[in-house]
Amino acid sequence: MTTLTTPPKTASLEARYCQEFPRSAKLFAEGRQIFPNGVTHDGRYMQPFPVYIDRAEGVRKYDLEGHTFIDYWMGHGSLILGHSHPAVVEAVQKQVERGTHLGSCHAEEMEWGRWVQRLIPSAERLRFVNSGTEATLMALRISRIVTGRRKVLKFAGHFHGWHDLLIPAADGPYDTGTYATPGVTEAVLGDLLVVPPNDISAVEQAIAEHNPACLIVEGNGGHWGAVPMRAEFLRSLRDLTKKTGVIFIMDEVITGFRLSPGGAQAEFGVVPDMTSMAKILAGGLPGGCLAGRADLLNALEFDNPHGKKMKHPGTYNGNPLSAVAGSACLEIVATGEPCRIANEMAKKLRGGLNALFAEKQVNWIAYGDYSACNILPEYDGPRSDRDDFIPYDNRLEKLDRKFDPVLSRAFRQAQLLSGIDLFGGWRCMLSGVHTAADIDQTVAAFDSALDLLRADGKVV
Ligand SMILES: Cc1ncc(COP(=O)(O)O)c(C=O)c1O
Repeated sequence: MTTLTTPPKTASLEARYCQEFPRSAKLFAEGRQIFPNGVTHDGRYMQPFPVYIDRAEGVRKYDLEGHTFIDYWMGHGSLILGHSHPAVVEAVQKQVERGTHLGSCHAEEMEWGRWVQRLIPSAERLRFVNSGTEATLMALRISRIVTGRRKVLKFAGHFHGWHDLLIPAADGPYDTGTYATPGVTEAVLGDLLVVPPNDISAVEQAIAEHNPACLIVEGNGGHWGAVPMRAEFLRSLRDLTKKTGVIFIMDEVITGFRLSPGGAQAEFGVVPDMTSMAKILAGGLPGGCLAGRADLLNALEFDNPHGKKMKHPGTYNGNPLSAVAGSACLEIVATGEPCRIANEMAKKLRGGLNALFAEKQVNWIAYGDYSACNILPEYDGPRSDRDDFIPYDNRLEKLDRKFDPVLSRAFRQAQLLSGIDLFGGWRCMLSGVHTAADIDQTVAAFDSALDLLRADGKVV
């Protein structure tokens, strides 16, 4: 249990953390009596306890005892317009009074759907669901109905939600043995093909041997670009899937409306057969959708030409609150400005952090594409001044690994004590409302966090 007594000035980083956030410590102790590990999402768990946030606005979050944090979780990537953007707030407030669940078709879902069609090149037709997990699940089911084939091909280290069919091999060591993903049966695992990213001959071989129904890929590489995939690889996948009749699914839950208003597919000029989306799609409210070719999405229609209908209920599909929030958000995204600013600010952050690491002689590196900034500690590979540089020559096992747990625990505490909150502890997700001044403040916060780590003996 956490000690709440006041530590001396020379106290350890963790003692300072406990001293600074006593109300969060107390809430966590109570939360553990309600939720496993006290949390409602694995990623929000931290030791000795997480900070409990009271409210948020723009790029800032405020806790219960008056601390302010510059936010880089940004609603798990859903808030390209920042917290509580006035246009989204107004749309939701108006809709709340008109009904939160109409249990009927409504004009707001059509408006929302039209925004998706306008922005996303592959979206001939779409169906709303409630999360990215549901969208990828639907994509697989439709692929099987249409092709009559069973198997699914995915890439090691790519995350597509937590359902049984795709959670295996999302994280290293990518083992798909029965016990590697507890609770997922051997039969389900038997339908999954996992190939290494960025290796087109491995994909060719897997398709030739197994004739899968579909192939699914994150829009710019595993874990939202931590292991980048470049446009050329995606183009090769497009050509290969077209030739072999494999349905090409682009998972744009993160990249959709973020890399560009039209997502990775518009940015790279690679139009998939189907696209899963969520997050920014619903303007920070819950929501997802699967979009794609009309002759595939018609598997959802009664009396469709495939002779088999995919059953699809879902209490909250096309929820009017998510619909109006999504439309308000996508209307602003369509201007291109939020993506442009988020990309520019992420580039400034990457540059500022690498300059800081060099100045402080810390063996860390910041890298990433578009509006992401990933931090790699304990870095011993080559460096470059180029912003598009990929550390470790893009080697999966080096980029997609778990860092030293002692360091991760300490850095999480040090960053919160310094006034910044990083996505999953090591990543930053930028928005269109982060400013140059926020980035300068963030680099200064990293400076202070590194000093805390050094004083605690966690960084040399
Ligand atoms: C690429 C990708 N696909 C799917 C999902 C699952 O989305 P959700 O959390 O809405 O179920 C996520 C979530 O982070 C994601 O990053």
